[in-house]
Formats: sequence, structure tokens, C-alpha cells
Amino acid sequence: MSQRLTLSRAAHLIGVTRAVLQKQIASGELPSFDGCVSAEDLQRVYPDLKLEDSGAFERITKIREEAFGKRIRERVLPNQEILAQRLAAQSEELEDVRRHLAHYHDLIEALRERIDHIGSASAAEQIADLAAFLDVSLARVLGSEEPTDSIQVMDNVLRVMSAHVTVKPSGHEFFVEGSETVLQAALRAGLAPSYGCGNGNCGLCKARIISGQTQQVQQSDYPLSANERTQGYALLCSHTAVSDLVIEMLEANAPDDIPQQEIVVKVRSVAALTPDIMLLHLQTPRSSRLRFLAGQRVALSVTGSTANFRGEYAIASCPCDDRNVLLHVCRDEDDAFASRLFAGAIKANDAVSLFGPFGDFVLQKDSPNDSLFVVCDSGFAPVKSLIEHAVSADLPGALRLIWAATRADGHYLENQCRAWADAIETFSYVTLMAESPGVAGTLAAERALADEDIQTRDVYVVGPPDFVEAAHRRLVTAGLPAAQLRVEVL
Ligand code: FES
Repeated sequence: MSQRLTLSRAAHLIGVTRAVLQKQIASGELPSFDGCVSAEDLQRVYPDLKLEDSGAFERITKIREEAFGKRIRERVLPNQEILAQRLAAQSEELEDVRRHLAHYHDLIEALRERIDHIGSASAAEQIADLAAFLDVSLARVLGSEEPTDSIQVMDNVLRVMSAHVTVKPSGHEFFVEGSETVLQAALRAGLAPSYGCGNGNCGLCKARIISGQTQQVQQSDYPLSANERTQGYALLCSHTAVSDLVIEMLEANAPDDIPQQEIVVKVRSVAALTPDIMLLHLQTPRSSRLRFLAGQRVALSVTGSTANFRGEYAIASCPCDDRNVLLHVCRDEDDAFASRLFAGAIKANDAVSLFGPFGDFVLQKDSPNDSLFVVCDSGFAPVKSLIEHAVSADLPGALRLIWAATRADGHYLENQCRAWADAIETFSYVTLMAESPGVAGTLAAERALADEDIQTRDVYVVGPPDFVEAAHRRLVTAGLPAAQLRVEVL
């Protein structure tokens, strides 16, 4: 019987998102059984896929990473010890397969039955009869052997290079690649695990390993109790996966599950995106990373006080990179922090106090709907975070962006949108121009309503007050259920 693969593993092998495979399953092109697909069907749908072509997978991954700018890039080969242990585990699995070669078992059984019913013919005739039977049976067995299944071979190779992790009780899945830690891999996969320092000191990332083998790859000072060790607990920020794992791990399901944090961060760079929008790149210390959900905001202060020079900004980067926080800061005379930034008083290497995260403009991750983002001007910032997170988490469903601008340079990162459209099969976007936010809101809502099937989409509206009010009014009037609409006023 052909090997069965979970959708996550099949997508990982082919180098497409789960959404693409789900679309092929829905159309009947790719059969599925209990949430799995067979290697044989996968090979039929992707007939040109060969082990030597598996660079296609790497290429797609690379394109996606490059399209996302700064991402965790430490995808190095596993160290020799881990590689050896994974290979040993694979060898055992192959031995197990050999033991279960059903064809030969059947042949032996048939041979025995034939011997039991040997008649009264001469010994020479009996031997000739058995020999003829063996020839025919062996020819049938050999003839029934299938050609090398390249999907299976690729799966074996990828199993050596990466380990599959299933999370209880959520059922989420992800892959640990190279010798990255389980925590790094979970964040890269768009999950929201419980953690704190990311450095082996606080113990907040401890999780129970239900099955599989881990190995410590990073220093840790947090002492697990003898009882926790007996129960199989390990720190996810300091262990990698040697084999496939099933783990019991706490995850944030809503903004209230994320603790408020106060971190002194360093300014990595300040760069003008337009004359009125600055890209501010902040970096947290290794031992104090920012835990947040995509779409949330943070407040910044240059004095360490929340009272002075404080500005609040939507995060424009993915929670999967928890050390590098990107913000799009708009020129605003009433915003003391922004004024200092535009005056050049905040520079690379300066220390800034960061508070947060705030807000509930976050993805509805368990929704089966497609996502539609309706944004105006710098409302693109939180949506960039949401889209990057949706892709990291490999969420099913299409991602559609309608970006309205009220000034000539309002689509200040359209090159980013083009890169996504090229690299992500499920992403599409359209841009609009309007003379004011109010008009932009109505136009963007009309454009959204013109798209097919808005009733099956979760809609995220973000921008200036007039834009949000106009778009919200038009969408609600058109009958979009309130539960499918999220708004954020900048
Ligand atoms: S996150 Fe603090 S010990 Fe792992």
C-alpha cells in the first residue's frame, strides 16, 4: 500500500502551502483519506517531482523567505550527532519495513500449503512442479514491485533533515529544521507558544514531551525539578528534536493570554520609507524578546517613562521573529516621539523603552474563511504583520488585500505586495487612490463587495477614523456579519 502523508508533511515535501493541497482535494484532483494523502496520488498530481528536483522545494522556501525580508535564517545542517541519531532512527524504520514484506510472507505460506498437498508423483516430478511454482510466484512478486517512489525517498531524506512535531491539545503541527530549538521552530511556524526569555532562564517554555527524543543544544540555567524531569518536561528554548515529537505545550489563543512586557530595546536603524513615514527597526536583547500577536501595537518612550515622549504604533513585523520589531512611524506634530524621530534625535544604537503589546486586531486563526484586508495609507503596517503571520502559520484560505491611498506615495511598500503575489499562491492585492480617507473607505468597501463571496471572508479594516467609519458602514449595510469584521483605527 502506498505511504500516507499528513497534509503538513505533503506540503512540506512538495513545497506548497496546505491551502494549495486543500484546494486540490476540494476539486477532487487529489484524493484524501482521514486527513492524509497517499504518496502515489501525490506523485500522480506532481509527476515531475524527483529527488534531484527537490531543489524546487528549497527554491520556493527561499523565495518566500526573501519576500519576507528579515526572517530567522539559521537553517544550518544538523550537527553530526543529531544527524547520526536521525539516520539510526530511519534505519530502524527501514528494517521494520523489510520485516513486513508481505509479498514474501505470502509466498512462503503458499509454498508450505503446496508441500502439504504433495501427491503421489515421482520425486523428480514433485521437484519440477515446486520449481515451476516458485518461478511463477517469484516472477509475480518481482513483477509486482513498484518503481522507486520518489516521494517516499524525498520524505526519508527530509525526515533526516527535519523532525515533525505535533502539539497537544491544539493539534498544531510544525517542523524542526537543522538544529534549531523547538521554540524557534514553533515561532517560525506561526504558533504562539508560552515563553519568556528565550534563553533558558525563566522556565516559561517548559513543555511535556509525550513521545520522541529531544537533545539540549543551548545553555540553560533554569532548574527543572526532579518530578518535572520524571514526567518528561523539557525547556523548548534550549532543546531541539532528534526524532518526531508529540508535545504538550501551552499556547496563547487570544491577546489576554499574552503578558504585558516592558523591555529596553536598541534602535537598529531608522530609514525613510517616504518623506512622512519612517521605518524604525528595534531589536530586543537576546534574553528578553517581545512576545506578541500579529496586528498588535506597542508604545515607545525615550525616557523610560510612559508619560513622556510616548507614541503607540502598530507592529509591522511577524511574531515569528521576536527579536526584530519593525514599525512604520508617521510624521505627526502632536506625537512627541514621532517628532523626535523625524528631527533626527533618535538614532541607531539609542536605547528606547518599549511597552506592550496592546490591541485585539489579531487574526481569527481558527476561522475557515478567506481573509480580506481593507487598509488605507500606513494601515498597511499591522496588515503586513497579519499577512506574514498567516503565511508563517500556513493558514488555509486566500489572502486578499485592498490598499487605498490618499497621497501619491501612499502605497509605500507596493514592492512588498508584488513579492508576496509572486511567491504566495493564495495572495492577491489591488491598489486604489482617493482624495480623502472618507472617500477611500467607501471606494475600498465597494471594491471589497465587488469581489466574489464576501460573505465567506473575514474582513480586517484599518486606517484613519474617517476611512474605517466609511468602510465599516458600507460593509455592514451590505450585510457582512459583525463576527466577520474587525476594525482598527490609527
Ligand atoms: S523561554 Fe525562558 S527558559 Fe525558555
